[in-house]
Amino acid sequence: MPCTVINGGFWGDEGKGKIISYLALKDQLDVCVRTGSVNAAHTVWFQGNCYKLHMVPAAFINEKCRLLIGTGANIHIPQFLKEVEETSVKNRIGIDYQASIIEEKHSIQDKASAHLKGVVGTTGRGVGPAIEERVRRSAKLAKDIPELQPYLTDVAKEANDAIDNGKKVLLEGTQGLMLSLFHGTPPYVTGRDTSASAICSEAGVGPTKVDNVLTVFKAFMTRVGGGPLPGELPKEEALKRGWFETAAGTGRERRSAPFNFEIAKKAVMINGTTQIALTKLDILHPQCKSLRTYQELPEEAKQFINKIEKQTGVPVVLIGTGPEALDIIDRREQS
Ligand code: IMP
Ligand code: MG
Repeated sequence: MPCTVINGGFWGDEGKGKIISYLALKDQLDVCVRTGSVNAAHTVWFQGNCYKLHMVPAAFINEKCRLLIGTGANIHIPQFLKEVEETSVKNRIGIDYQASIIEEKHSIQDKASAHLKGVVGTTGRGVGPAIEERVRRSAKLAKDIPELQPYLTDVAKEANDAIDNGKKVLLEGTQGLMLSLFHGTPPYVTGRDTSASAICSEAGVGPTKVDNVLTVFKAFMTRVGGGPLPGELPKEEALKRGWFETAAGTGRERRSAPFNFEIAKKAVMINGTTQIALTKLDILHPQCKSLRTYQELPEEAKQFINKIEKQTGVPVVLIGTGPEALDIIDRREQS
């Protein structure tokens, strides 16, 4: 803080929603800017409720936090309105005038494409076709939509003013570096760059304004859709280890593999990562469940964390030990 970019280091689903919800409360975030679109779901568990957010920033659980959706985002109007209702954030959420609109026709195009749906294995939400339309300069923008008028704002101006006034601002990236159109594993990638720089660009914040790049890794890797996954385990083995997951957004089965240090090093390099958050350590080492201090961790878990720090050269500052927002070891104050 004051300005942190958070993003995923693997293939999405690293648990960014959980880390953001923790920071929202712990660091008392003032502003959270979401980027990306409805292909991504950020899961937030709070006070026994589970929210799967495709549009509303994951920091919503802090009632004082201003929530923004950046100009680079693609807005799905019905999903946005539904989530605003569910999270009761009507009076504190804003959308950039020039964010573009994703429509039903884009989802139909995505699902009808043998290449996109069949080969790439997209979420079918239409994000690729919506971005294509934007690139053709024919997309509708938020400012053209009557239902969005109450929410419109200049997100870049709000975010930069907040940073200049010493407020705590989080730029919320979606998906993971390995799904990046530029840096991932094409053609098995999403329709945009997902690196930390791209997240800044989507929000309208320049690189000199960012103090921290917090990259989130899960203690093992998962991937949905097509494309390589180094070290991929058979489903039976994933089930045995408790690594088997289904996607929050689409319900599809996630493939899984052990944590890969080479990929982590690449993610740290391209994102310019200054801090790492590691999630689901309790799935790898069940004895870690709900622990809140580093000292209590079993030796094996400490060794794993040391190895990540040694190989990447970046400190692991936050460690997830359970699904609730507050199930975290925060080494920013303990080390
Ligand atoms: P698209 O982003 O829907 O075009 O899908 C392209 C690829 O990215 C597919 O492999 C999807 O499964 C994957 N993908 C997109 N969004 C997410 C996400 O939020 N989490 C995990 N995978 C995603
Ligand atoms: Mg997700």
